[in-house]
Parts: sequence; structure tokens; C-alpha cells
Amino acid sequence: MTSHRPRLGLVGAGRVGRALGLVLRNAGYPIGSVVCRKASSARDAVAFIGGGTARTISRLRAIDGDVVIVASPDDAIEDVARRIALLPERFEGRTILHVSGSQSSMALADVKRRGASTGSCHPLQSFPTAELGATRIAGSTFAIEGDRAAVAVATRLARDAGGRPMRLRAGDKPLYHAAAVMASGHVAALLDASLEALQAVGLREEEAREAIMPLVEGTVANIRRTGTRVALTGPFARGDEATIELNRAALMAVNEALARLYEELGVRSRVMARR
Ligand SMILES: NC(=O)c1ccc[n+]([C@@H]2O[C@H](COP(=O)([O-])OP(=O)(O)OC[C@H]3O[C@@H](n4cnc5c(N)ncnc54)[C@H](OP(=O)(O)O)[C@@H]3O)[C@@H](O)[C@H]2O)c1
Repeated sequence: MTSHRPRLGLVGAGRVGRALGLVLRNAGYPIGSVVCRKASSARDAVAFIGGGTARTISRLRAIDGDVVIVASPDDAIEDVARRIALLPERFEGRTILHVSGSQSSMALADVKRRGASTGSCHPLQSFPTAELGATRIAGSTFAIEGDRAAVAVATRLARDAGGRPMRLRAGDKPLYHAAAVMASGHVAALLDASLEALQAVGLREEEAREAIMPLVEGTVANIRRTGTRVALTGPFARGDEATIELNRAALMAVNEALARLYEELGVRSRVMARR
């Protein structure tokens, strides 16, 4: 069953590495080396994935994998590539991918020089934990760039994980990643501000979260069906300046940062309403 799937090595097996390892093992990929900084972390990752051999980066002598996924933090990718490139083994015919959203395959230049195919394959999903991330990989978009062979491997890997491959140009990765940050981290930050305002009204944090979630989920569902412009409701869509001023003054009384955030997003809302 599994023989036609390439063998997968992982360097960095935290939230994303573990989640991808588990999903791809379930899709029939045999797991080779699972490399972390700490031995305990590598062992936990092997247990989570249900396969592979635990290794530490400082004692790495060889790496078992036709396809190696580098899932270390972004700022460690170049260092990892440098270390892998020093291993006394053949790289021709093998593929090294990293999973960063902001960096391109250029970060793997050292190992490319050794003959490996290189690319990046970024799951456009949030992984607060490996467990939660693993449940959300299916249906997620995977942004892929790199050399031709690496793009082919990454595309297949994304499909086998249940995801939707999407090609990107290397130079577009920072802009693509900025868009991803706005759709995930910034949404969390915005809702945090909304919760702060509700707590100032007197709600406890859990009560406030419970109160806004149906509204948030309704808005997201509307955006999915109609797009952002039709989904824009409220005083900015209506051009109700008196209400906007009441809102702004009330937020200012809590703190200036909340009022500024409301105004900044209001600029965008006005543009959307005019369209
Ligand atoms: N989290 C997300 O939502 C998300 C989403 C999409 C893409 N990504 C990307 O996925 C990658 C990993 O992020 P993550 O959130 O999974 O990070 P993480 O949970 O912090 O895991 C990082 C892993 O890398 C290992 N590591 C750290 N430094 C290393 C080094 N110098 N050499 C080898 N291994 C090293 C860690 O080992 P120890 O446990 O032993 O320290 C750990 O296993 C990043 O490129 C990130 O941009 C993240």
C-alpha cells in the first residue's frame, strides 16, 4: 500500500511538523527521521505521528527521507539547511521543502547546491497545537513555490494531505504572508479588542466571547457566501455618522488604542461602502 509514497523526513517537529507528519502518515507516507533540538521533543513527535526515528539536530549524522520537510521556526531554516548540507550523503533525487509562509525556497540554497530539489509548501492554516492543526489540514490551501521537481513533489503532498495546492512566485511570498496574517492573527487581535470593550461594559471574558461568537461566525459565513462587500453591515455601510461618532467616543473613554483601531478599520469600511 505505502510503497509508491516517498519516505518522509522531518526536521523540526513542533505544531506544524507533527500535524503534517500525522496526516501524511495516515495518507500512506512512511516516516523516516524525525529531528528536533531536544531528544524528548523528537520522541514525543514520533509518538504523536505514530512512526519515524527520533533524532536531535546536534547529533545528526544522516537523514532518512526521500522528501525532507523542514518545519523549524522561520529564523532557523537557513541554519538547518546549512547543517543538512554538511551531512556526508547524496542529495540528488531528493527533495527538501520548508513550510514557512514568509520565506521562499531561497532559504534552502545550501542544500540545493548539494543537488537536492528545493521548494516551500506553506499550509494556509493556523496551528495553535499539533492536534488542532491536524484536524484542519484537509481542505486547506497549500502555497507552493520552488524548482520544478520540488513543486511536483509538494503538489502531490498537499493533495495527499487533503489540501488544495496553489502556485506562488518566490518573490510574492512576503505579500502573500501579510495577507495570511491579516486573515488570521489580525482577526484574533481585532476580536481581542472587541472583547476588551465588552469587558469594559461589565461582562466577564468568557461571557463576552460567548456573546460575540455567533456574530463572528455569522459574518464569516456571510462573507463565504456573498463576499466582503455585501457582508459589510452596520453604521459604516449605512453612512450613519452620528452612531459612528457615539461609538468612537465610547471607545476613547475606555482607551485611545481601541478608538484608533475602530477609526482605522472605519477608513476601509467607508471605501467598501462607496464601492
Ligand atoms: N504555527 C502555525 O500556525 C504555522 C502555520 C503555517 C506555517 N507555519 C510554519 O511552520 C514552521 C514551524 O512552526 P511551528 O509553529 O510548528 O513551530 P514550533 O511549534 O515552535 O516547532 C518548531 C520545531 O522546530 C524545532 N527546532 C527549533 N529550532 C531548531 C533547529 N535549529 N534545528 C532543528 N529543529 C529546530 C523544535 O524542536 P524542539 O521542540 O526540540 O525545540 C520544534 O520541534 C515555521 O516555518 C512556521 O512559519 C506555522
